[in-house]
Amino acid sequence: MTFITDIVYKNVHEAHVSAIKEMAMLSAKIEGAASLTWGLPSFRTPEYIREGVKKYLDEDTAAGKYTLTDGLPELRELVVKKHKVETGIDIDADANVMISAGNMQALNTLFHTMLDPGEEIILTDPCFASHIQQIKLFSGTPVYWPLDEDNNWSLDVDKLPDLITDKTQAIVLVSPSNPTGKIFSKEELMRVGEIAKQHNILLIVDDPYSDFVYENRDKYFNLASVEDLKEHIVYLYSFSKSYAMGGWRLAYMVMPAELKHEALKVHDATMICAPRISQLAGIVALSQPSNHKQEFESVLAGRRELIGQRLDNVSHVFSNQKPEGAYYVFPKIVAAHTSSREFALDLLNNAKVAVTPGSAFGPSGEHHVRMAYCVDEDTINLAFDRIEQYFKG
Ligand SMILES: Cc1ncc(COP(=O)(O)O)c(C=O)c1O
Repeated sequence: MTFITDIVYKNVHEAHVSAIKEMAMLSAKIEGAASLTWGLPSFRTPEYIREGVKKYLDEDTAAGKYTLTDGLPELRELVVKKHKVETGIDIDADANVMISAGNMQALNTLFHTMLDPGEEIILTDPCFASHIQQIKLFSGTPVYWPLDEDNNWSLDVDKLPDLITDKTQAIVLVSPSNPTGKIFSKEELMRVGEIAKQHNILLIVDDPYSDFVYENRDKYFNLASVEDLKEHIVYLYSFSKSYAMGGWRLAYMVMPAELKHEALKVHDATMICAPRISQLAGIVALSQPSNHKQEFESVLAGRRELIGQRLDNVSHVFSNQKPEGAYYVFPKIVAAHTSSREFALDLLNNAKVAVTPGSAFGPSGEHHVRMAYCVDEDTINLAFDRIEQYFKG
């Protein structure tokens, strides 16, 4: 133990880098590894956005400056219009919209704003690994709400009321879900909304994937479109996936005015503002028509079919349910193994294939792995050729 251990905050010392990033870092050290770990789309930021940003850099003398803490007014106004089109709900750019450096930073700001030590946030189980870590970093307690695996990972709303205590602050929802790809039904979500309202709990709708729903467009429902829940919802939209802008770090939050007032203090103290250059990219992204989202979705649809077929061919290793949206599969490991972590490390070290252990996504994720199929087809094929070879006989 060195003085560094001594000075590091206990919660940080006890935390780990997420298994997603850990596997990505390990696989980067193995030459030629086929990686299905990270949800990093293979797409390039669309040309119209790159060109628009170049123009800003050349012509906008303020392009290198800070912005207002809640973001550029022009971008927030574009968010107001987008939100109206998508949800039918009227919001105000000053009162309700905050630009963040990605949904991760937005969530961090929210948890920081609302969590006193020991307070609870309900997470679906499995859920996005980083939600668990962020809550713990702020001395909060993640409360796991097991999804119904037999029903393709749907919400088990009957179980929700029993999880609510006087320490419950919020419920986090991701639909389509990471890691299961599940799109929660309107009926289920409406019931969750009613329960949250009844108990005065915040609903945090983390939305990086609603543009990738394939043949299930009609099934997708945005809880932020319910007027009656407006004061109980924070809706977070990320540019990372739909605009292939993960590295730009850009997202927005639509939130109740009182919460924005509080969250701004955290955002200001920790971030000042989201990077201006990325906000300018966001203005270009939202102000020009483009069909790149449909193109991304159709490429991903092909990869979803491919990975589904390849999984079917190794049914002695994995049992799979077809994901409805996003770009992950979350098969159960049926081959002999002790834990998903041991399985993933073994696969990486001996077959040069990187997947993320399901245990990273909560207790119900154990004995599963997550595979991201946003990588190109060659990588998917290489990974599965190796898996077939490794588990032969
Ligand atoms: C559910 C979920 N939330 C947030 C993020 C991160 O989004 P951003 O890049 O906007 O920080 C991801 C990325 O994989 C995700 O799956």
